[in-house]
Amino acid sequence: MGPDKKAPYTFDEKGELIRPTNYRTWVFAGTGTTPKAHDSTAIFPDFQNIYIDPESYEYWKENGYFREGTIFVKELIRKGDTISPIGKGFYQGEAYSLSATIKDTVRFPNSPGGWEYFKYTDYEKGILTESSPALGGSCISCHSNAKAGYGPFHELYMVLRDAKKAGKNNPENLNTRGGLKPEMPSHMREKE
Ligand code: HEC
Repeated sequence: MGPDKKAPYTFDEKGELIRPTNYRTWVFAGTGTTPKAHDSTAIFPDFQNIYIDPESYEYWKENGYFREGTIFVKELIRKGDTISPIGKGFYQGEAYSLSATIKDTVRFPNSPGGWEYFKYTDYEKGILTESSPALGGSCISCHSNAKAGYGPFHELYMVLRDAKKAGKNNPENLNTRGGLKPEMPSHMREKE
């Protein structure tokens, strides 16, 4: 994020992005669910838990676009249990990957929108790495399928869709975001 000291991420002296640590306390954006059992060609099984740093979330909520210095983190998670009292399905098992994307047009003027990509998995050692170089390449080319033509797939994240331009200090609940969508059908209400 260049000179702005409020960036919620840090680079080391090699120019690598230091692995974010407290992202599970950030704002939860959503979970893509692509079970291999449903589609064996899915590139990442089975869940993707996505978080955005709180200040960038507030900015998005107020302005409807991402500020310079936004960071998203993604944990890839395999399926765990396949049954619960609700019924058969897919429940989250163990996390096996951690990656991040940031919007930094100062550091990455040639990446579309300034969005760059980082990954922290060392599968040989079975740990997360401390830092990651900018990966660009295949990450960027697939992310060009996002609605904006680059950057995050925010259209897939319910929390971000609901919050977009909701306004500064807009309370975080459904009644300030238009209520239930759609209203629950009556046959489902009876079963509850
Ligand atoms: C084949 C397409 C594809 C490739 C390749 C890809 N991604 Fe993604 N990525 C997605 C999709 C689709 C989503 C949103 C939905 C989801 O993950 O459930 C996403 C989401 C993300 C997110 C969450 C924020 C956002 O941008 O929506 C991060 C972080 C991320 N990817 C990092 C990476 C990194 C790092 C790489 C390269 C190592 C990479 N991605 C490569 C398709 C891809």
